[in-house]
Amino acid sequence: MARWTERDIPSQRGRTAVVTGANSGIGFETARALAEKGARVLLACRNSSKAEEAARRIRPADGGAVDVVELDLGSLGSVRACCARLNETVDGIDLVVCNAGVMMPPGRRETADGFELQLGTNHLGHFALVDGLLDKVQTRDGSRVVVVASTAHKFGKIDFSDLQWEQRKFKRWASYGQSKLANLLFTYELARRLERAGSSTIVAASHPGWTNTNLQRDVSSFQWMGALLAMKAPQGALPSLHAATAPDVRSGDYFGPDGMGEMRGWPKKVQSTPASHDRAVAERLWDVSCELTGARYAALS
Ligand SMILES: NC(=O)c1ccc[n+]([C@@H]2O[C@H](COP(=O)([O-])OP(=O)(O)OC[C@H]3O[C@@H](n4cnc5c(N)ncnc54)[C@H](OP(=O)(O)O)[C@@H]3O)[C@@H](O)[C@H]2O)c1
Repeated sequence: MARWTERDIPSQRGRTAVVTGANSGIGFETARALAEKGARVLLACRNSSKAEEAARRIRPADGGAVDVVELDLGSLGSVRACCARLNETVDGIDLVVCNAGVMMPPGRRETADGFELQLGTNHLGHFALVDGLLDKVQTRDGSRVVVVASTAHKFGKIDFSDLQWEQRKFKRWASYGQSKLANLLFTYELARRLERAGSSTIVAASHPGWTNTNLQRDVSSFQWMGALLAMKAPQGALPSLHAATAPDVRSGDYFGPDGMGEMRGWPKKVQSTPASHDRAVAERLWDVSCELTGARYAALS
């Protein structure tokens, strides 16, 4: 089968995309490719100077506009401020790519709101962000939400009795797995709720296999192995770009690389674990995430 590459991305002229964590790695390459195809791209990043530098590098001579909006997913105040700013300044949003993430900090850390860092950043921050932007997303026909997950969801387990790792000994790998399983449970639950509400918004997930980025900064063995074995970021961004732009994507689809173990390769539709499709867990996680973040998803309750 023919490889899906950046050349296959349809024109994005007239579309507005928000990409979280767009100053580095997969988010940077996702934003760059969308801008090169003519989208207006908003880089939603926590560090303004890194984001401005990324915008300068991305801004194509003849492509769409590239702007920066401040977003720290580890602070619900920052998420709300970002949503307020976008709701004031943007007519509609065609695409939100929930890409930003952290992986395996050396010990248990917390966000500004006291959530365990990986659950708080990777899942809860994005859960609140999408709630805050959903009205703008729903104004656009064919709009999409793409959530970047990971093969690490396979060893994730949602432990409702200790979501924040306060009672148990902290295990950074299991905690990362929990946050990435939460990404997929959220994707599928949002897709179901939007469909029930009669919305045309598509919700899909992606994962970049193994891609050499800053994500591995806290795991030295991954760093040197990644430099040798992992894909480069432009290729790692392709599953997200496929989910975000390919015409045949359906709500609930999940894309990753087609090579062995989904570690490398070119985008194809992939399967996630039965645990990621557990509707009872997804509904409970939805309710708990609303309670923790104050998100309302008023039109989808
Ligand atoms: N690379 C892989 O092999 C791999 C595999 C599976 C899944 N993923 C997923 O791919 C996504 C992108 O990661 P990457 O590999 O491109 O890593 P990366 O280069 O480290 O990029 C992560 C981005 O997220 C941002 N970020 C972190 N915490 C944030 C916060 N609190 N608020 C806002 N932005 C925040 C980072 O900002 P700073 O630059 O300011 O830190 C950075 O822009 C993540 O969701 C990750 O879990 C990656």
